[in-house]
Amino acid sequence: MDKPIFLVGFMGSGKTTWGKKIAQVMQLPFIDLDHEIVLHIGMSIPEYFNLHGELQFRELEREFLKKQSNKYAVISTGGGTPCFYDNMKWINNNGLSLYLYHTPKSLYARLSQSDINKRPILKGLSGDELFTFISTKLQEREKYYEQAHIKFAQIHTPIEEIIDLIERHQT
Ligand code: S3P
Repeated sequence: MDKPIFLVGFMGSGKTTWGKKIAQVMQLPFIDLDHEIVLHIGMSIPEYFNLHGELQFRELEREFLKKQSNKYAVISTGGGTPCFYDNMKWINNNGLSLYLYHTPKSLYARLSQSDINKRPILKGLSGDELFTFISTKLQEREKYYEQAHIKFAQIHTPIEEIIDLIERHQT
């Protein structure tokens, strides 16, 4: 089954880092959906949000997601990708999906250390406000992420185990 392997999960969950690792071990190409979009629009995602708004970004994201069908590659999606239109259904019908699970506390710790301004959805948030936002948004989005074929908590799962799970799902 040479279908794409999609990584889904909240912002800051490590989709890109893990996607690259999995791709390297499986000797597959790695594609970052956000990066593909940035190359196409010629500006950063926050700039695009400012100029055109979220709705237009979601349309573009959907268009780029659909371009990934039939690619045998590891693809990291944006945190919101599975949560709009029927994207999660499309992901599951066209590939194998992996959800990188974190608790709100872990996401908060990770995102607090990152550049918040790179993520338009989190712009201006810090401290308690950021934690509350993450908890609420995760609760809202979990129903999509949870539909993934494979779910793993990265801290507790060695890469070999993840590859093994992928290969078992592929046969
Ligand atoms: C978003 C997550 C971002 C990016 C955009 C919107 C979201 O990707 O697609 O800023 O709605 O969660 P990452 O999950 O890679 O940060």
